[in-house]
Amino acid sequence: MTPDNIQSLQHEQRLFTPPAAKRAHIPDMATYEEHYRRADQDPEGYWADRAKELLSWSKPWDKVMDCDFNIPKINWFVNGKLNVSYNCLDRHVENGLGDKTAIIWQGEPEEDVRHISYRELLADVVRFANILKKLGVGRGDRVALYMPMVPELAVAMLACTRIGATHSIVFAGFSAASLMNRIQDCEAKVLVTADAVLRAGKKIPLKGNVDDALTDCPTVTSCVVLKRAGIDINMVEGRDLWWHDVVADPNIAPTCPCEPMDSEDLLFILYTSGSTGKPKGVMHTTGGYLTYAAHSTQLVFNLHDDDIHFCTADIGWITGHTYIVYGPLALGVTSVMFEGVPSYPDPSRFWQLVEKFKITSFYTAPTAIRALMRDGSEWTKKNDLSSLRVLGSVGEPINPEAWMWYHENIGKSNLPVVDTWWQTETGGILISALPFATPLKPGSATRPLPGVHARIVDAEGNPTTANEGGHLIIERPWPGMLRGVFGDPERFKQQYFDRFPGKYEAGDGARQDEDGYFWIMGRLDDVINVSGHRLGTAEIESALVSHPAVAEAAVVGMPHEIKGQAIYAYVTLRADADESDELIKALRNHVRKEIGPLASPEVIQFTVGLPKTRSGKIMRRVLRKITSGSTALEDFGDTSTLADPSVIQDLIAGRHN
Ligand code: WTA
Repeated sequence: MTPDNIQSLQHEQRLFTPPAAKRAHIPDMATYEEHYRRADQDPEGYWADRAKELLSWSKPWDKVMDCDFNIPKINWFVNGKLNVSYNCLDRHVENGLGDKTAIIWQGEPEEDVRHISYRELLADVVRFANILKKLGVGRGDRVALYMPMVPELAVAMLACTRIGATHSIVFAGFSAASLMNRIQDCEAKVLVTADAVLRAGKKIPLKGNVDDALTDCPTVTSCVVLKRAGIDINMVEGRDLWWHDVVADPNIAPTCPCEPMDSEDLLFILYTSGSTGKPKGVMHTTGGYLTYAAHSTQLVFNLHDDDIHFCTADIGWITGHTYIVYGPLALGVTSVMFEGVPSYPDPSRFWQLVEKFKITSFYTAPTAIRALMRDGSEWTKKNDLSSLRVLGSVGEPINPEAWMWYHENIGKSNLPVVDTWWQTETGGILISALPFATPLKPGSATRPLPGVHARIVDAEGNPTTANEGGHLIIERPWPGMLRGVFGDPERFKQQYFDRFPGKYEAGDGARQDEDGYFWIMGRLDDVINVSGHRLGTAEIESALVSHPAVAEAAVVGMPHEIKGQAIYAYVTLRADADESDELIKALRNHVRKEIGPLASPEVIQFTVGLPKTRSGKIMRRVLRKITSGSTALEDFGDTSTLADPSVIQDLIAGRHN
């Protein structure tokens, strides 16, 4: 799929009426339409009401919004003051919910379970906030978190918010080089990490990556290390501190005031791949993000006080930020945090947890569903899943077949499956069914949430007709949207607002059917979505080229049954290097080391040349066609700008199937 030729081949006709619910925030389409209309006609009134209902503010705002996509300028709840830690913890304890479980943590070993109450979580957060202060972290400073899925990660995040520091979480599957780049970009003062990650019965060392990364991160003055796996690690004198030592310090005060933050103060930075260059530090601020997190969590999962919400994402991604930590805790519900993987020790692990903790809403990714589907539905029949009310999906388009499997086997043909479209940049879900209102079509994210003005436009920015593919844009600001790219305002403007002036460009292709339902078709830029994780082609290519044997590389996505997309790399070697299976192995390892295991190419094809324009730009559009199996010249579209059209035949001849 390319921006100038977007075609949809999907013709899904099934329609499912949502089940009735006794307590739905939005019980039917008429109520949805009413909310949508209100948010459309009176956005300031709508969002002011939501921000007041859902959060506690220490000072009210002067103006609900002050935004202009043409500049771009985005401000929500102007001059309002609040604290995220107060909203996620203190106020619930003050309201008598101290004993309620905030986080149910299931470690990778079955017996590692903790039920952490709001009071306990608050105490841990206060303690760690005071430790951060002692390490010299203050308002506006950055703290990098590179951790497994353990409660201490949530503690560290909330501790940052308490004292007005900005966290930047780096997914623990990323390599030392990726960690280093991110720390260098955000100039973190402190890094919090662990000795190792427990994953599928193995101990995967983490601290070694940290030591490598910190060789060139002069801003980091301290590194706090949690002992998770108990492996031998190197502790650097004067820099590294054990978590268990710092928290045991008797001089740490048992209280820590919440810093009153401006609504637009930076809450966190999260790096995400773009089409070009290094990852972008997506910036989210305090008031708008938290309002949108609470709002979307409440409506999309239909959460009430007694619900147990389980989002299976890693907190290292935006989905974990918003739907494990900030959304559920702002609402005061119980959030399940899981350290393990779906298939270990066997493919019923998720369903065991559903039964064990009486989970009511379950949110996962299509890649996990496809993997579980392959393992067979008998694994879904061993546990009592009757506590479930809502099922969700996120990360990439869900194939209608996977949707049906999820609905039938996990939802027992009765539960709504909400396919939620959003991005790191959007802060929260923008397009999704509301589980007890929206009639469902398998594979469609259905309709935008109230307050979200999503449209499909053609390359010139004109509205498309029903079912015509185009660019997904958002016409008006919403509170949860990103406020910038850290340290790079020009990139912010150019990436999201230049192509369609006055509108936010998502970078996804989509169509809207005759009922106004959205069908997302995937990325239009050179971003590859592997198992729901965004990877930029530029980064992977740079990693390949940094190997001494490689002269040039181009990568494209290829369809993959479980991962959705996998990476297919075309590599041109230097004159003194020879093609071999060992070299393929070495290149795969090299990419793992440079970026992380996620980015390791599925296929590497050696080639003497790449299809390039006369100006030297690699035509990935042509490579994508070759990868997908095209052989007919007319399939390649306009190749008149190719410097050497004969490379196409060579590439086809060398293709790996
Ligand atoms: C894709 C994850 C189709 C899309 C929250 C988007 C989806 C990118 C869906 C963002 C969905 C996410 N249907 N595609 N329900 N959800 N995507 O930043 O291409 O990791 O632009 O955020 O994932 O990925 P990100």
